[in-house]
Amino acid sequence: MGLRSRLRTALHGIISREGTSSVGNAAAPDPRAGGPASPDLAGWTDLGPVGTLAEGRPVTRARPDGGSVVVFLHTGQTYAIDNACTHEDGPVGEGEVRGTCVRCPYHDWEFDFTTGDCRTDPERPLATWSVAIDDGRIRLGPQLRSGTPHRGGDHNDGMETIVQ
Ligand code: FES
Repeated sequence: MGLRSRLRTALHGIISREGTSSVGNAAAPDPRAGGPASPDLAGWTDLGPVGTLAEGRPVTRARPDGGSVVVFLHTGQTYAIDNACTHEDGPVGEGEVRGTCVRCPYHDWEFDFTTGDCRTDPERPLATWSVAIDDGRIRLGPQLRSGTPHRGGDHNDGMETIVQ
């Protein structure tokens, strides 16, 4: 086998592994795709069927620890962030989605759901998790980033809430 053939074979192996893996934030392109559960997701939490998850239309699901996550689909990849806004715990999952940004419906704080970064206050990121779609179900993996525990702060109307 020549060098070109070996390279092609090696690349095909890599592409095949990535194409079938739903691990982390790299999900299958079709969130409703069926198939057997991947052994890579052993121990991940089943958050139920994908339901209405679509590009620009996230779904919110309860976590076993009592909180909830918002799951997004964007350019064929899935992302999960905490649903509790780092301003005053507003429901981020009910916010408007534009590109990779979601805007909290309470006071318009903005977050990048691919990173958890808060665009309104960089010191207030949201927690993020590994998430995948497997056999038409949402699977939540390990936390990737812890969010800030701080709450309160400026509103867009100039008023401020003090949290003690
Ligand atoms: S609670 Fe989210 S912006 Fe205020």
